[in-house]
Amino acid sequence: MRKKVTVVGSGFVGSTTAQRIVDMELADVVITDILEGVPAGKALDMCESGPITRTDSRAAGISTNTGDYSATAGSDIVVITAGFPRKPGMSRDDLLKANYNVVKAVVEQIVRHSPECIIIIVTNPLDAMAQAAFKVSGFPKQRVIGMAGVLDSARMSAFVAMECNVSVENVHSFVLGGHGDDMVPLPRYSTVAGIPLPDLLPKERIDAIVDRTRKGGAEIVNLLKTGSAYYAPSAAAVEMVEAILKDKKKILPCAAYLTGEYGINGLFVGVPVKLGAKGVEEIIQIKLTAEENAALQKSSASVRELVSVLGI
Ligand code: LAC
Repeated sequence: MRKKVTVVGSGFVGSTTAQRIVDMELADVVITDILEGVPAGKALDMCESGPITRTDSRAAGISTNTGDYSATAGSDIVVITAGFPRKPGMSRDDLLKANYNVVKAVVEQIVRHSPECIIIIVTNPLDAMAQAAFKVSGFPKQRVIGMAGVLDSARMSAFVAMECNVSVENVHSFVLGGHGDDMVPLPRYSTVAGIPLPDLLPKERIDAIVDRTRKGGAEIVNLLKTGSAYYAPSAAAVEMVEAILKDKKKILPCAAYLTGEYGINGLFVGVPVKLGAKGVEEIIQIKLTAEENAALQKSSASVRELVSVLGI
């Protein structure tokens, strides 16, 4: 059976996500947007690249401005990227209420047409939007996942590879917490060919990498001026899609609904999870130092604040 993935939002994050899924021949893709024409045009353009890139995955684009989501029916995964993007000087949190309304409206429709799907949230502020999707959908916690830990870890790995002048394939990074300015990069659990970062780099270089990772999203926003990152965010979302569709049991840092793990209850926060066909199949608990744990609690308190503003 061919797999089906719906990508909600045909902006840069949504369209590059769809393109990667099609290019990797992971699934047929439906791209939706409230815009007329744009999702259909982008999808057709992707289909026309198939004979060259050698993929039989198909893309279709639909406008949902009439509220009709029937073309998304029976999706295995729905990746939600729709929402207002961050502008320079704007924090992820400024987006809170505007994007809550978008995510709520989308999830209500998605649930009707794909009651068995797994939802991956990419819309910011990431952790709060995952919480919103979880509450609105009524889905079990295994089937609602937030993207950002994979993105933040990839950024950290890219900076480590540049610093050490080694292949990115040698680098493994770990970033926990919310996808905000107080996310928690963990140098002790980040390695180059298995060697922990503190054994390889002086503290000030590690501190600089941690700081750049935390501000990674803003660094791109400030360069692009008119939008936020999309190559790495879409690659991150698709790594999650692949892990689920292929039932890989891959351990990735994702925003997951915690019920007591890490001492956090009733909240989406970035932690290592095992991703497979059922979604979040396990939450991996790693040992944190008092300092690391304090940073994680601080980050989760920021998420809690947003969630309570929304009253969800
Ligand atoms: C980023 C923004 C989109 O991290 O949150 O790139």
